[in-house]
Amino acid sequence: MKKWFKPILIFLVIIGFLGTTVMLSGIIPISASSGHWPITEWILTFSMKRSISTYTMMMDPPRLDDADMIQRGAGHYEIGCRHCHGGAEEEHFLGQKSTPVAPHLSTKVSDWKPEELFRIIKHGVKFTGMPAWPSMQRDDEVWSMVAFLLKFPKLNDESYQKMIHAEDADKIVHPILKSCSNCHGVDGNGRKAGDFPILAGQNESYLEHSLKAYANGKRHSGTMQLVSSHLEERMIKELSRFYSKQKRIKRTLERTPEIEKAIKRGEMIAHKGILEQRVAACIGCHGPSESGQTVKSHFPDLRGQPASYLMNQLKLFLSNKRGGSEHVTLMEKAVTDLTSDQIKDVSLYYESLTTDQ
Ligand code: HEC
Ligand code: HEC
Ligand code: HEC
Repeated sequence: MKKWFKPILIFLVIIGFLGTTVMLSGIIPISASSGHWPITEWILTFSMKRSISTYTMMMDPPRLDDADMIQRGAGHYEIGCRHCHGGAEEEHFLGQKSTPVAPHLSTKVSDWKPEELFRIIKHGVKFTGMPAWPSMQRDDEVWSMVAFLLKFPKLNDESYQKMIHAEDADKIVHPILKSCSNCHGVDGNGRKAGDFPILAGQNESYLEHSLKAYANGKRHSGTMQLVSSHLEERMIKELSRFYSKQKRIKRTLERTPEIEKAIKRGEMIAHKGILEQRVAACIGCHGPSESGQTVKSHFPDLRGQPASYLMNQLKLFLSNKRGGSEHVTLMEKAVTDLTSDQIKDVSLYYESLTTDQ
């Protein structure tokens, strides 16, 4: 044994013994009220910044100035972030009492690049209480949140409230329906921005199965998982019944000659399918059938649904990220392959249809 080895070993044993004694004695304060020592805070902040910078080196953010993305992010901020980080001009919020403090984000957003915000929001931050996004499969929802945060510093109380509440939400008394209306509109026909799926006139059984699938994590959406995991079975049934009974309002689609052509191509796909790509005819399940309805009540009625929502869902299906109810395998088998142009065409076709016929 080397001469220097023994004293080092004795030193380490003593340090280990002292450390264990201090820990066992319980004198280390773990209370959030006492804050961190400056050195601990420095180490944690430095490690966080280094880690985020390393993990985002190769990332390229998508376009983040889209009004629909910002609106979807706003809705989620209200239900998933505000209680810790505060609203636009809110001075007192829960996160001020945590260690480390959850900062008011309007002063912090500019410290980070969009891809760094993405990383923080998707994965959360260890040892701080900053949680990860509820559904790991999806990136599009997290980017919507980044888009909203970039806008957040410019908002005041009034403009924030306008974003997160439906135009005539005062008309609704029921607190749960009111909360749904913040994103889906008072009658389930959506809001001006956001391209939230239309719930009005949707098949009751499909709504019910979808809410259950969100709640148990089988359909992947961080936003809807937060919303639906609080709902009791009876409430899920009542909400599904309520929205299925509302009248679906016809959307006004801007019909340029290009869009007319796309709708015609989409109609062919929906009615005939694409044999060589093994894509089934959509109408076989989604209608419109002779009576206008879908073929089974647990298939979604796609008529008049915003094309951008349908496109996003189809892209999620093709990349195996959508998940869904127990009936979803039918859909997955029906659309094994579609190009982005075909996705757009068939989505525009369904948006162009009305439920009045
Ligand atoms: C349970 C409380 C909690 C919730 C909910 C929460 N956060 Fe945080 N967040 C924190 C804490 C605590 C920190 C501080 C982390 C640190 O200092 O290292 C933080 C840090 C952040 C940061 C980095 C800010 C900075 O410069 O230090 C961002 C951005 C952020 N959160 C965004 C969000 C978003 C967006 C949501 C909602 C999807 C959210 N947070 C939900 C507690 C929370
Ligand atoms: C914070 C915004 C927000 C709130 C609040 C919200 N939703 Fe949603 N909802 C969404 C988004 C975004 C989607 C699309 C998610 C996806 O991509 O799967 C969605 C999807 C749905 C769907 C699936 C629709 C379809 O065509 O597949 C149902 C059903 C639904 N929501 C019901 C509700 C009900 C009921 C409430 C109230 C208890 C509610 N939502 C509250 C944002 C919200
Ligand atoms: C064999 C039946 C079947 C066929 C054929 C089919 N689908 Fe579906 N589709 C379903 C089912 C079932 C669901 C609902 C999955 C769930 O419950 O989560 C669905 C869901 C969808 C959704 C999501 C709707 C929403 O509100 O989230 C879209 C978009 C969609 N289908 C488009 C299409 C298109 C476009 C085609 C034709 C190219 C097609 N489907 C063919 C059965 C089918």
